[in-house]
Amino acid sequence: MNVILLGPPGCGKGTQAKRLEMASGLTQLSTGEMLRAAVAAGTEYGKMAKEVIDRGDLVSDDVVVAIIAERLDEADVAGGVILDGFPRNVAQARALDEMLEDKHLKLDTVVELSVDDDALVERITGRYTCDQCGKGYHDKFEQPKVDGVCDSCGGTAFSRRPDDTEETVRNRLSVYYEQTRPVIEYYRSKGVLQTIDGMVDIDDVTQQIKEVLKIH
Ligand code: AP5
Ligand code: MG
Repeated sequence: MNVILLGPPGCGKGTQAKRLEMASGLTQLSTGEMLRAAVAAGTEYGKMAKEVIDRGDLVSDDVVVAIIAERLDEADVAGGVILDGFPRNVAQARALDEMLEDKHLKLDTVVELSVDDDALVERITGRYTCDQCGKGYHDKFEQPKVDGVCDSCGGTAFSRRPDDTEETVRNRLSVYYEQTRPVIEYYRSKGVLQTIDGMVDIDDVTQQIKEVLKIH
């Protein structure tokens, strides 16, 4: 099964993709995480991408399409993927259709997480991640069981993303409305779109997605 999680910055794509990975055997492919890894590694295109990501604009289609195309050829994704943060405009959606056809793969479902703008800003500005294992937390909505200690790996160092400032989040939201919203219509017209309520608790969102994807 190949699935897209679609929705604005902070709607819960990464949180839910990681939970679905555990529950289903599908592999999360997050273009945002792959780009941040390239930035951290200091590769040439990582250096170029950093400025764009820090502004909250989109990295060029050629770069992200190539990243996804390469990943889809690797053995660990044979069980199916959860695309998180890709595609982000109609050109990327068309490129994905072409690459899936070339690789004899099928897109099963696009799950749109619907969340109000004010909640998005609160979610993003309160978000932080374990440096060791990457598990995501939130100051208010998802705290570690023991303060300052990661539930998953016991790590004690955490970071916040440089693009999670309120100013950059506002730009990321306008980019979403201008460029990514049309992708929703693109998939609606293909009959593969399922919209779920992303305003409820994290567990309840997971439950809704599992029902849509028939994962038990
Ligand atoms: P990317 O990393 O994809 O960021 P994004 O789409 O802006 O989304 P986020 O990762 O911020 O949010 P999320 O939906 O994953 O939410 P999360 O689960 O963390 O992209 C970053 C940048 O890379 C882009 O701006 C662009 O520059 C570039 N890029 C990436 N892909 C690209 C592409 N295809 N083309 C071009 N450029 C690209 O949740 C947020 C917080 O809320 C967490 O703290 C979580 O604990 C909390 N939370 C989650 N769900 C709930 C809930 N139900 N209730 C309460 N709190 C919740
Ligand atoms: Mg994310």
